[in-house]
Amino acid sequence: MTDATDRELVIRDLRVAPAAKPDNEILQGINLTIRKGETHAIMGPNGSGKTTLAYALMGHPAYVVTSGEVLWKGRNLLKLSADKRSRLGLFLAFQYPTAIPGLSVASFIRSALNAKLQGIDKNPDVDPTDAIKGGVPMLEFRRRMRDKMALLRMDDGFAARYVNDGFSGGEKKRLEMLQMAMLEPEFAILDETDSGLDIDALRIVAEGVNAMLNPNMGVLLITHYQRLLNYITPDTVHVLAAGRIVKSGGKDLALRLEEEGYGPILREGGLEVDVADEALAVPLEPEAAAAGR
Ligand SMILES: Nc1ncnc2c1ncn2[C@@H]1O[C@H](COP(=O)(O)OP(=O)(O)OP(=O)(O)O)[C@@H](O)[C@H]1O
Ligand SMILES: [Mg+2]
Repeated sequence: MTDATDRELVIRDLRVAPAAKPDNEILQGINLTIRKGETHAIMGPNGSGKTTLAYALMGHPAYVVTSGEVLWKGRNLLKLSADKRSRLGLFLAFQYPTAIPGLSVASFIRSALNAKLQGIDKNPDVDPTDAIKGGVPMLEFRRRMRDKMALLRMDDGFAARYVNDGFSGGEKKRLEMLQMAMLEPEFAILDETDSGLDIDALRIVAEGVNAMLNPNMGVLLITHYQRLLNYITPDTVHVLAAGRIVKSGGKDLALRLEEEGYGPILREGGLEVDVADEALAVPLEPEAAAAGR
C-alpha cells in the first residue's frame, strides 16, 4: 500500500442504478478524488443523484453499481460490505435518519464504536466488550459521550433515549453528528446535515463539524444551501446534475448558484434546463405566482 492510496478516496467512472430498476442509471460516470484533510461540497437539483452517490459509496443494498471503481486504502470499496466500509473508516450521516425504537443512543453508539475497534479483519485478540482486551472502558465511553454532546449542545438525556424515536428533525441531524464525533471517521459523507436545522442549530452543528475536521479526514458535504458553506469552507464545490458532475469550482461557485439558480450552469454544461430550475433562479412575486405567471 503506497502512501498516496492511504490519503485519498478515488471515484472512477462510477455508474449506479437502483436495484429495483437496474436499467435506469442514476449516476452516469462520476469521477472524483477527495484527499484526507479536504472538504468537497456537492450541490445539485433535487433528484440529481446526490443521495444515490452517498449510498453507493457506503454500500446500500438498494443500489447496484453497474460500472466503475472506488479506491480507498488500497482496496476497491465496492467489493466490500457496508460493515467493512465502516470498519475502514467511512461514515455516512443520513439525509433521513431512521428511528430504532428500543435501542438507546448510548448502546447504539457503543456497539458501533466497539465493532470498529476490531478493525476490518475482526481481530480475535481484541474483545471490544472487554476493556482489558482493547475495548473502551465504560467510564471513558461516558466521558467521551459527555464531551461530544457538549460540543453539539445536546442535552445529556439524549443518551438514554431510543435512536431517533420521536426526535425532531434538528435533533436527528445532531444525533448523526454525535455518531460522527464518537466514531471519528477518516472519510465522512454528510447528506444534507444542514436541512431542518434552525439558524442557531446550523451554527452549532457547523462548529461541531469544524472542530472534527482534521488532516486525517476527508469530507463529502452534500447540501442545497450556500449558508452552510459560510461556516464550513469547502476546498471544492461540485455541481451534480443528470448523474454527472457538470461543474467544479471554489466556494464562489456556491455563491453563483445561489444567485443564478442551476439554469445557467446546466446550460453551460450542455444540459436541458427544466422549468422548475428556472423558477428557482427567479422567484416570482406572490401575486404573479398566484396568477400563474
Ligand atoms: N431505490 C430507488 N428506486 C427507484 N428510483 C430511485 C431509487 N433511489 C433513487 N431513485 C431515483 O433516483 C433519482 C435520484 O435520487 P437521489 O435521492 O439520489 O436524489 P438527490 O440528489 O439526493 O435529491 P434531493 O436533493 O431531493 O435529496 C430520483 O429520481 C429518485 O427518484
Ligand atoms: Mg438526497
